Amino acid sequence: MPTHVTAFGPGRVNLIGEHTDYNQGLALPFAIGEGVTVKAAATVGRRIETNAVDLGRSDRFELDRPRRVKGWRAFVHGAVAELVRAGVPVPAARLEISGTVPRGSGLSSSAALEVALTLALIALSGATGPDRTELAKLCSRIENEWVGAQTGLLDQLACLYGEVGHALRIDFRSLEVSPVALELDGHQLVMLDSGEHHSNAASGYNQRRAECARACELLGIPSLREATLEMARQLPEPLNRRVRHVVSDNARVDQAVEALRRRDFKQLGRLLDAAHASLRDDYEISTPAVDAAVQRLKHGGALGARIIGGGFGGHVLGLLPPDARAPGGALGVRPAAGARVLPDQVR
Ligand code: GLA
Repeated sequence: MPTHVTAFGPGRVNLIGEHTDYNQGLALPFAIGEGVTVKAAATVGRRIETNAVDLGRSDRFELDRPRRVKGWRAFVHGAVAELVRAGVPVPAARLEISGTVPRGSGLSSSAALEVALTLALIALSGATGPDRTELAKLCSRIENEWVGAQTGLLDQLACLYGEVGHALRIDFRSLEVSPVALELDGHQLVMLDSGEHHSNAASGYNQRRAECARACELLGIPSLREATLEMARQLPEPLNRRVRHVVSDNARVDQAVEALRRRDFKQLGRLLDAAHASLRDDYEISTPAVDAAVQRLKHGGALGARIIGGGFGGHVLGLLPPDARAPGGALGVRPAAGARVLPDQVR
């Protein structure tokens, strides 16, 4: 059994397909180079001691007694509890968390943290642990049951399956993950901060999820993957617009895969713009600050731009043509490798 391990979980950018994951739909995310690193050292006894380096905070608890706590601590207590429940022999440990992905920015710092924590604890335990899809589900239970955000599997699957140079077409009904080459011929994907921070647990995220469940109930279908635009028209406000967004965004995912295959970047840009309009007007998860960031990118020559992630703040994504200069403060992003235990660090 190793005495020290280091695990890394990347953040993610979602090219298209938003709020589709918990509706058994489609999305096209990729893992990025920024993420969360967890260093774990085995200790004696039964205690988990954690130091959140960037926050200057620490926490300790008996690993048989994880508690209902708030904020970043909930991820650690939840990770230990869910791993133990899954049969992983979690050992006593000292954990050190640090990150390069901004928190509350729509780049999935939460999944990066869940995945890095669980990978580090599994490696330290010497157990094999669940496969990547099962681990994604376990991590999403940490978020659903311990952090309080009813999020889907998008972020965890993107974090765990990320591949250099590829986006991932994820079908959330079958949980099939198919890499799609992201060759942009000199075009650039950039993220621009709206300046507004969000928390999925505190935002309207859970309400959107409940609205989709209600729409399914009224339509008598198991998930919105089975919905059509015709069905959406039969629903009362605002459920009709929520369903219209989900149905149209699923279609845009496959249109984006096709645009990438044909290297039709103008079409890809149009799809990003259409997705933003749908998230703003039908799904209603944008804000004035987010719309302003989208406009900044568009005025800077972006072929398309949109809000990403849970919404209500965070970063926006833009597709810039080869000759355009990214606006000040924009962060270039490209598909990077998925989560991993850093091999040279296992001792
Ligand atoms: C957040 C959630 C994901 C997904 C997106 C919206 O990132 O964690 O599960 O629902 O919002 O697409």
